[in-house]
Amino acid sequence: MADLRLSSVLSLMKERVLLSQIVRHDVALQKKGREFVGHCPFHNEKTGSFFVNDDKGTFYCFGCGASGDVIEYLMRKRGIQFMQAVEVLSEISGIKIPEKIERNTDVLHSQRNVLQKIMEFFKENLRLSNEATTYCEARGITWDLIDKFSIGYAPKDMYSLLNYLKDAEFSYDDIANSGVFSEKDGKLICRFRDRIIFPVFNKSGHPIAFGGRGIQKDVTPKYINSPETAIFQKRETLYGYNIATKNITKSVPFILVEGYMDVVMMNKYGFNTAVASMGTAFSSQHLAKLWRYSDCPIVCLDGDSAGYNAMVKVAFLALPYLQPGKSLKFCRIPEGDDPDSFFKTRQRVEMEQLLSKSENLIDFIWDYFSKTLSTMENKTPENIAEWKKEIFNHIDEIQNVDIKSLYKRDIKGRIFDLLGRNNPSTKYVNKQANYSLVHVDKSEKTLLREAVLLYILISRPSVIPVVVEELASVEFSSERFEQLRQYMIDNPDLPDFVSFNGTVDDVRQMADGVCPLVGMSDGDVVRLWKDVFDFGISKKRMAEDLRVAKDECKTSFDDMAWNRFKALKLGFLNSRKPKDVE
Ligand code: UTP
Ligand code: MN
Repeated sequence: MADLRLSSVLSLMKERVLLSQIVRHDVALQKKGREFVGHCPFHNEKTGSFFVNDDKGTFYCFGCGASGDVIEYLMRKRGIQFMQAVEVLSEISGIKIPEKIERNTDVLHSQRNVLQKIMEFFKENLRLSNEATTYCEARGITWDLIDKFSIGYAPKDMYSLLNYLKDAEFSYDDIANSGVFSEKDGKLICRFRDRIIFPVFNKSGHPIAFGGRGIQKDVTPKYINSPETAIFQKRETLYGYNIATKNITKSVPFILVEGYMDVVMMNKYGFNTAVASMGTAFSSQHLAKLWRYSDCPIVCLDGDSAGYNAMVKVAFLALPYLQPGKSLKFCRIPEGDDPDSFFKTRQRVEMEQLLSKSENLIDFIWDYFSKTLSTMENKTPENIAEWKKEIFNHIDEIQNVDIKSLYKRDIKGRIFDLLGRNNPSTKYVNKQANYSLVHVDKSEKTLLREAVLLYILISRPSVIPVVVEELASVEFSSERFEQLRQYMIDNPDLPDFVSFNGTVDDVRQMADGVCPLVGMSDGDVVRLWKDVFDFGISKKRMAEDLRVAKDECKTSFDDMAWNRFKALKLGFLNSRKPKDVE
């Protein structure tokens, strides 16, 4: 009765989805240890006794006893039949249900057997080949590793594997479907010849494909992989996953590396949670597989520009799928190395240090963007605006609203820091974009400046005493802002804004996002405050000075008064339109 093919496709589907994500559509869930808990969707209850375990892909209600996997959940929740639930799951997971399920019943079973047999053939041949064992030795692949990863060798001979399988009485179809042979002139020939063989296992430890590394110098292609078959989908498969999942703990995450050899060598030095995506681009399905066991896997690809670019791609790929508590970290291997070659000259502890210094996703992305800005040839406002647009396009892809707004806030702050103070050539542009905002009229601008000045002080009261003199030297245009200013001047040391709640809310609403202070020291905050102060309010004072100088010229027209007027006027004209002066 059991349909092997369907069950294998089903388990692929289940691996790809998180049960908690599906349940979340029906009830709110909260994380509790390794599980999620919420109100049971199958009976009425006041306290949450419904648990979802993503590791196991199961749910259980301590109230009514309802339990099962994702199919069971969909059947019960939607009142549908088994096959309908499979269809729903197929849609959610994006994995198609194979046509003619019944007729393929035995295919999977024999495919499994034939792959197992092929793996044994390769393993035996490694022991028989001097050249292959010498190659392994030269690359530091010990017998322990050979056993752990069932590493083998495909001999030069095209037909020996075929004959071996025929002797074992596998049918032509079974052999042809294994993915290990190609057809030439109506004959099956083994794809892998004179290559070290890395079998690729599914999570249960069955071989589903092979990768072969040529052992001759400069052989092309360097690696050959099995083509995709019913049971081997590259987007779904991670080399080393079966071993890594056994070693994941809360403090030991997955480490995503580039190649077979990187996984094997990481294991040699005790990093037994390494996985690789096998020459294909890292996919969202890969990510889902990692997040099933590990909240924050570390991405550690090759230390060349291709590796770096691939890491940036992984970072962007992850954005839409970020969930509270789920992220990635990024570890940079020294230029020119990969994890495998890293160990040729370095110790385990050095890798440990490198991994422990991994960057957070947001830092990694920011570093990438700040690099693109620093290498930008022509930093015009237009080009910088385009640069900003690209950043926010990426951030907009984040689906989780909470995470999206936190990213926006943080990145805005970093953009502000970068453009505002560290990069004189773009200072003007920043002020346009951040203090004055675009398309606001003059009185609004004034109000916004006042709001920003107050906002900074409300968010960081410790700097009020430092700027209290400046604060006392101006008047604010809005009455409510003016009251708050007066209060701060009178109580610079221990202000309590409770009685200004309404005003504080308005200030926050106006200024929030204009100048985030995340991660800024008090000193930086003071500098920022003074920048805003000078840029906005001192202009008013300049206008006043100018009027006085003009009057002076009228009453006592001497050189000094005239020069002073001219200087003031020139300085003033630089920052204001002439019609404002007259
Ligand atoms: P690399 O070119 O980085 O090789 O490819 P490597 O892992 O460092 O291998 P060694 O150390 O030279 O033996 C990384 C991965 O990309 C895939 C393989 O999965 C490889 O492990 N690849 C590479 C291919 O599929 N085909 C190729 O021709 C090359
Ligand atoms: Mn390598």
